[in-house]
Amino acid sequence: MRAALVVAAALLAVPAAAQEARQTANFSAPVKSFGRVSYDARSLMIDGKRTIIWSSEMHAFRLPSPDLWRDILQKMKASGFNTVAFYFDWGFHSPKQGVYDFSGIRDVDRLLTMAEEEGLWVITRAGPYVNAELTRGGFPGWLVNQRGRARTDDPEYLAASDEWLTRINAIIARHQINGDGKGHQGNVILHQIENELALTTPAQRRYMDHLYAKARADGITVPLFHNDQGRNGYWVPEDSKVEKTVPGPNDMYAFDGYPGGTCTVNGKPTRGSAAPDWGYYGPGGAKGGASASPNTPGFLAEFGGGWFDYWGSNGGYECNAIQRGKRFQRVFYGTNLANGIHIQSFYMGYGGTSWGWLPAPVVFTSYDYGAALSETRELRPKAEELKQLGGLIAAVPDLAGMVPAGPVQISSDKVQVYHNKSPETDARFLLVTHKPSNGQTSDRFSFTADLPDGRYTLPMQLDGFDAKWLVAGVNLGGQRLVYSTSELQAILKQDGRDIALVYGRDSEAGETVLRYASAPKVTVLEGGATSAFDAAKGDLKLSYAHRGLTRVRISGGGRPDLLLLIGDEAAGARFWHVGEVLVRGPALVRSAKIKGSSLALTGDTREATPLEIWAPASVRNITWNGVKVSAGASLPGPADFPLPALTDWRVAPGSPEANPGYDDRDWAKIDNRPYASITARADGQPNMLMDAYGFHEGDVWYRGRFGGTPDAQRLRLHYGAGGAGLVQVFLDGNLVGQDEIPAGLPRPITTGAPSFALPDAARAPGEHVLSVMVRNNGHNWDLDADDFHKEARGLVSASVEPVAGPSFSVPIAWKIQGRAGGEDLADPVRGVANNGGLDGERRGWHLPGFDDRGWKAGTVPGSQAPSGTLWYRAGFDLAVPKGQDATIGLAFGDRSKPRSPVAYRVLIFVNGWNMGQFIAHVGPQRVFPIPEGILNHRGRNHIALAVTADGVRGNALEQVKLVTLRNVRGGIRVRMVAAPSTPSELKQVD
Ligand code: GAL
Repeated sequence: MRAALVVAAALLAVPAAAQEARQTANFSAPVKSFGRVSYDARSLMIDGKRTIIWSSEMHAFRLPSPDLWRDILQKMKASGFNTVAFYFDWGFHSPKQGVYDFSGIRDVDRLLTMAEEEGLWVITRAGPYVNAELTRGGFPGWLVNQRGRARTDDPEYLAASDEWLTRINAIIARHQINGDGKGHQGNVILHQIENELALTTPAQRRYMDHLYAKARADGITVPLFHNDQGRNGYWVPEDSKVEKTVPGPNDMYAFDGYPGGTCTVNGKPTRGSAAPDWGYYGPGGAKGGASASPNTPGFLAEFGGGWFDYWGSNGGYECNAIQRGKRFQRVFYGTNLANGIHIQSFYMGYGGTSWGWLPAPVVFTSYDYGAALSETRELRPKAEELKQLGGLIAAVPDLAGMVPAGPVQISSDKVQVYHNKSPETDARFLLVTHKPSNGQTSDRFSFTADLPDGRYTLPMQLDGFDAKWLVAGVNLGGQRLVYSTSELQAILKQDGRDIALVYGRDSEAGETVLRYASAPKVTVLEGGATSAFDAAKGDLKLSYAHRGLTRVRISGGGRPDLLLLIGDEAAGARFWHVGEVLVRGPALVRSAKIKGSSLALTGDTREATPLEIWAPASVRNITWNGVKVSAGASLPGPADFPLPALTDWRVAPGSPEANPGYDDRDWAKIDNRPYASITARADGQPNMLMDAYGFHEGDVWYRGRFGGTPDAQRLRLHYGAGGAGLVQVFLDGNLVGQDEIPAGLPRPITTGAPSFALPDAARAPGEHVLSVMVRNNGHNWDLDADDFHKEARGLVSASVEPVAGPSFSVPIAWKIQGRAGGEDLADPVRGVANNGGLDGERRGWHLPGFDDRGWKAGTVPGSQAPSGTLWYRAGFDLAVPKGQDATIGLAFGDRSKPRSPVAYRVLIFVNGWNMGQFIAHVGPQRVFPIPEGILNHRGRNHIALAVTADGVRGNALEQVKLVTLRNVRGGIRVRMVAAPSTPSELKQVD
C-alpha cells in the first residue's frame, strides 16, 4: 500500500533535479607528495591510498590528568574518528621568556604517543597563536610586555615565537608519519602554522613565510596549512591563481566554519540556515571555499562541533550539544562531504575544562562546548550518530575523492539529493536531504538515478530535519550492494563470510538490493524481512521495516555467505565495530584484541548489559575488562556509591593586604618601566600594569600610601580585568567599594573606570593606605591581529582627587604584589595557570597538605562574610568502587538556577589545583567537574575555596556539595598527578 502511494506521488510531481555541481576543483591537478602524505584536488592520500580525514579536536591542556587523555582518544576512536586535531598552547608551557616545560600535564610527547597507540592520525596546530578561547589566545604572559607587534615579522616577536616553535616543532617532528629519521614513524599527517590570520599586509606575508620556513627548518615534512577564518581565500597556495585570493607559502588551503545557527536565550536550538555548499556545489572564486584553492582538497580545519558559552549566559552547553548534535551532523557534515570536503575536523570533539587561569575573557571555566564528549567524559547521543557516520566512512573507502556524478530525478521539490561517484570504482554516495537542508517537513518521495548497476527508483522518507547518507554500486567484502535505502554502519569479514550492519529511522520502511549470479537462499533469523529475486537482473531485494534488530542470512547465489543485520537507529547505536570483531550491547567498547584463541575486550557499561559478539571462529575465550565472560553473557553495570557530605570546614581571613599595618617591604615599587599596552593612559602616570611586574595570572594587589588631606575626596580608577573581572578597594583596612565588569558577548567588556567616594578617614591628617585587589579574569585574545592581548590588566591609573575644582591629584606611592615568584613559578608542576597572587595562594593554603589546624571551625552555607577574601578548607574521603569510572564534581548553591540571588565569587582548589571560578551572581556554571587524577577517587582529598565578597549580609558562600555526574563500570587506570602537597614543597622563589 505504501509503495503504491509513493509511485503515484512520483508520477504526479514535477521531477526536481538534484544538486548540480557548479564549480569543480581542478581534477587534473597533479599529485603533490610530502613523504607518506600526498594529495591532489580530490583528497588526501596516505601511503598513496585516498583517505577521508574525519577528525575532531581535543586540548590536552584542558584536561590536567594525562592518563585521561587516553580515555578521550579511545572514545574518539570508538565514535568513528580516524584523526584527532590538537592545539598546543604556547603560554601553558612558558612562564617566562626562555623557560619551557614539557613535563607532566604538559607532556606533548606523551600525548602524541598515546594518539599513535590508539591508532588515530594527528593534525597538529602549534600556534604560535591559537585563539581557542584561551587567555591571550595562547600567547605567554610575558609576551604582552613586548612592544613588537605580534603576528607580524617584527624581529622581537619572531625571536619570541621561534623560541616556542623550536621546541614544539622538535616534538611534533618526532611523531610525524614520515618518521623521525631514527626508524620511528608516528601519526602526524598535517601541520598548521598559524590560526585565522585575517590581516594580510606584507608584514603578515613575511611572517607566514617565516613560519613556513621555520617549520621546515625544524624538520616538519608533512603538508603545512593555515586555517582561514572563513572562506576568504586568505593564504592559499601560490599556484592557486584564483582572483581576489591572498597567496601564502602554505601547501594546502583550509578554512573554518560554524554555520547552522545558535541557541536562543531560552536555550532552544535554531534551524534558521541551511547547510552551505562550500565546495563542488557552491560558487567558485575567492568565496568558493575549497575552490579558492582548486589544486588542493576541500579542507575544513574547524567545523562547528558545538560552541562556547560565556559569563552571564543562561547555560548553553546542553543546547549547543543539540544545536550541533544529532541530525545537524548528518545534514551539515554530510553536505560538506558531498561538496568534496574530504578533510573535516570538528571543533570540539572534547572541550574539557579551562581550569585555573586558562580562560580568555569570553568564557568561564567549563569548555564543555556541547561537544560529542561532554566535559564529564560522557559520550553524548550525538557521539553515537558520529559512530554510525564514521562507520560508513571506514566501511566504504571509495568515498574518498568522490566527484559529482550528475543529477537524479526526485519526486518532491522539498528534497534534494547530492550524487557523487568515485572515478576509480564508480561507487556512489547519495546524500538525501531537504531542500533547503534545514527543512523540517515530513516527506515521502522517491528518486530515480542511473546507478552503476542500472536505473533504480528508491522509495524514501525524511521526517523533519535530517539527511540520509546512502551508498550504491559498491563492493562490500564479497558482496555487491546495488543500493540500500538504509545507511551502512559496518562491514566485516569473518571466516569467509561477510557481516554487514545497516540501520534506519525507527519504524521506517527500508530496502536493500544485492546482486547475485543466481537466486541465493534467504533465511530470516530474527525480525521481519521479505525478499524477492529478479532473475533477469540478478537483484535480490530485501524489504523490511527498521524495528529493533532484524537478522537475515543470505547464502549461495555465487557469493560468500552474508549475515545482514538491520537495525533501527537505536539498535545500530548499540554496535561497536572494533578491529576484527563486532560487539553489541555495552555503552562503550574501547578495544578488542585477539591473541590466539582469546579475545580481550575492554569497555564501559552504564547498566547491566547483555553482550553479543561476532568474532572469528578461532576465538574460544573472551574477557571483558580482564574478566572471563561467555558470549551471550550479561555484563554487570556500575554500583552506586555514596559521596560524603562536606561538613568539617575550617576558615581563615584572606585579605591581610588590606590592613594598614601589613608588611609590604618586599613588594615591588611602581615605577616608570616601559609600557607596552595598547590601552592609552593619562600622561605622567607611572606604569601600574600587573604584567609589567611579571604578574600575568589571577589576582594582584596594589598598596598606595598618601598623606591625608581635604582634597582626598574620591578615588578614580582605570583598570583592566577581563570578563566579569573585579576590583576591590580598601582604605586603611576598610572596604571602600568594589567594581565588577559586566558580563556579556560578543566582545566582552574587559576594562572599567569606576569612581569611589572616599570616607572621611581619607581626609584625616597622617598616612593612609589604599589597598586595591584586581582580579584578572584573563587577557584578551588577539583574534584580529591588533595586539588586543596587550590590553591593560591590573591598574592603568589611580587618582585620589577633589570632586570639584582644578584637576589635581594627591601624590600616592604605589607598590604591587602578585603570584609568588611572578614568572619564576613556585609550583612549576601545576604550572602557569594554577595560581594568582592571593596571600593564601602565596602561603600555600590551597595545597592539600597545608596544616589548617590553627584555623577556626566554619560552617557552610555561611550567612555573613567579611569584605575581601575568606578561605575555607575541608577534607573528605572517596571510595569509588574499583573498576568503575566516575566523574565527580563540586556544586554550589541551587543547581536549578544559572545565577544566585547573592553575590560572591570563589576560586576552587582541589588538592592544590585551581579547578575554576564560580561567580554566584553572574553564572551560569555552578557545577565543576573535577577529573580523576586531580581528585583521588580512592582516598583522601582536600578542597580549598577562596571566597571573595563585598561584606554585605547574605553575600556569602552557599551550600557546597559533591555530586556524581557520571558513573560507569569500566574506564581506564588513572594515577594521581604528582604535585607538591605542602607549602614546603614549593620552590623558594621570592
Ligand atoms: C575559531 C578559532 C578557534 C576558536 C573557535 C571558536 O575561529 O580558530 O581557536 O576560537 O573559533 O571556538
